[in-house]
Amino acid sequence: MTQTKEQWGSRLGLILAMAGNAVGLGNFLRFPVQAIQNGGGSFIIPYLVCFVLMGLPLLFIEWTIGRFGGQAGNHSTPFILSEMAPHQKWWKYFGVFGIFTNIGVAAYYCYIESWTLGYIYYSLTGTFQGQSQEAVSEFYGRYVALDSLAPVFFWLLCLALNTWILSRGLSGGVERAAKIGMPLLLLFGAILAVRGFTLHAGEAGARYDSAMGLNFLWTPDFSSIWSPTVWLNAAGQIFFTLSVGMGSIQCYASYLRARDDIALNAMTAGWTNEFVEVVLGSAIIIPITVGYFGIEGMKTLVAEGGGFGLGFRTLPYLFQEWGPVLAALAGVLWFGLLFFAGITSSLAMGTPVMGFLRDEFSWGRGPSAYAFGFIVMLLGIPCVLSPAAFNEFDYWAGTVSLVVFALAETLLFAWVFGIRRGWEEITTGADIKVPVFFKFVIKFVTPAFLLVVFIGSLPSIWEKITTPQPLMVHLARLLMLALFAGFAALVYKASIKRKQAKHYL
Ligand code: ALA
Repeated sequence: MTQTKEQWGSRLGLILAMAGNAVGLGNFLRFPVQAIQNGGGSFIIPYLVCFVLMGLPLLFIEWTIGRFGGQAGNHSTPFILSEMAPHQKWWKYFGVFGIFTNIGVAAYYCYIESWTLGYIYYSLTGTFQGQSQEAVSEFYGRYVALDSLAPVFFWLLCLALNTWILSRGLSGGVERAAKIGMPLLLLFGAILAVRGFTLHAGEAGARYDSAMGLNFLWTPDFSSIWSPTVWLNAAGQIFFTLSVGMGSIQCYASYLRARDDIALNAMTAGWTNEFVEVVLGSAIIIPITVGYFGIEGMKTLVAEGGGFGLGFRTLPYLFQEWGPVLAALAGVLWFGLLFFAGITSSLAMGTPVMGFLRDEFSWGRGPSAYAFGFIVMLLGIPCVLSPAAFNEFDYWAGTVSLVVFALAETLLFAWVFGIRRGWEEITTGADIKVPVFFKFVIKFVTPAFLLVVFIGSLPSIWEKITTPQPLMVHLARLLMLALFAGFAALVYKASIKRKQAKHYL
């Protein structure tokens, strides 16, 4: 094992990178649609309960185990976890989830991210100018059906960009990208949110006040509050949006110093994500769509195409109502905002595997970044070719795996490492007084919560496994299995190397 020399350049940079990891496409495309489909205003209740009882505790846990593991020179979860339980070496194989999930999610995530690059280009060149709603919608259909080579070009460009930034290292690449991307994202989001809030009936072709959309989104429908599905969806959104249960937060935190604060930093990054999600995420796509189509029209559009449909089929058409210049500008702001949200998250997905290859096999920064880019490209091929494969990666790597890993790391932290030591770690160097309430929550409530979420997901997992699936789905599953098995084998090899190194000391 070699000690990688990476470290964060500044506290602000670290917080922006961590917030950038969390703030992603999920905040703008997934959250508003989840809120609408799960009871509008009442969704926020299970959502916030999940945030406090599961999201925040997991942030504390992941930041803490990352900083702890990093002190011994570990920058990916396999050996971070085994550092926490030195007598139970098998934990390192659980840690494989922390590499697998990031690569599995990146495989489809980078593809969506690349659409935003394509759409920035199309907005700038006025492609949607004067087109009907059907034509803009069909354009998207043709784009994802690969009717030209453009999607492949933008996808490869996006992968190349990610790889290049990663190859520049933590402070020179990832941190710098977050320092540029996050402020721009907030600025672009604020401009579009003001437009979203202030669109009135009769203005710029709008038929309704956009505020109706906000009222609809935030009017509680309490009949849904006891539905287990709503709770599962709220928990799923918290996982995805905070990037917990993935392995990337642990990796970022492993570059902290022993006495660096984690309590305030974790809170700041977590609440920044919530602000962007709940305030900005709901202030753009829904109000603007409602301004033109009304509530019922928007519901139909959501039912037909979800967040992707609204974001890529509807908004580029509606922007045209604002005149050619503002339409181009709005397109650049909207897709630019999505691009910055996406890339600051996908960069975080690249760092765990890089940390692993660098720590265990002494790979350089460049080669380990290229390895990430190459594997993501290979796994991305079925996602680009088939929506069924895309959804399969999202299901196993982007949903199930997060819950499994979060449950395992919480049990390890609270019950094996021990909550007493764990609490000591959380509070060491803390710039705030962490409420003792969380000690109890981390020990009992979060594991119980996660267990319930996991058990609650079992029927859908069972259904998924037992339903006949097309060939592409089987191929996707095979690739994911190969990915997991491949990294488990590398972890095994690395542990042998470590043993031999110890022996010769
Ligand atoms: N947390 C990232 C998102 O919300 C993955 O898109």
